[in-house]
Amino acid sequence: MIAIGCDHGGYELKLEIIKHLKERGIECKDLGCGGETVDYPDIAQKVCAEITNGFCERGILICGTGIGMSMAANKIRGIRAAVCGDEFSAKFTRMHNDANVLCMGARVIGAGIAREITDIFLDTAFEGGRHVARVEKIMQLEGK
Ligand code: RB5
Repeated sequence: MIAIGCDHGGYELKLEIIKHLKERGIECKDLGCGGETVDYPDIAQKVCAEITNGFCERGILICGTGIGMSMAANKIRGIRAAVCGDEFSAKFTRMHNDANVLCMGARVIGAGIAREITDIFLDTAFEGGRHVARVEKIMQLEGK
């Protein structure tokens, strides 16, 4: 189960990604918004809560740039959010950082690449090995 959310800047792209996930048979929980003007930290908080509560394995957050969402998400204990605008970053943030939230900027990238980034993010496993201790150190920075 994937948690997904957006602000008004990311609404249209979120609909595209939800449609894409459905076509792939991936269930997702939409935490808003519905196109109305909202503050992106509120949506980031809702999506990340689904992950930290254990209801969803990963999350997707979309705003205008992806940056505001990632800044907000990364303040939440247990969240490792990555803004991705290319496939390479999506692949390696999973392999090396074990990112659990993908952030994308609807005013930065188009729907085609966003779908590919989403697929790579969801289909790529954490590599483990030497990256385990590094990810642990990230978590220690938040006092965990
Ligand atoms: C909303 O206008 C915009 O600020 C937001 O979508 C996002 O880009 C923030 O980082």
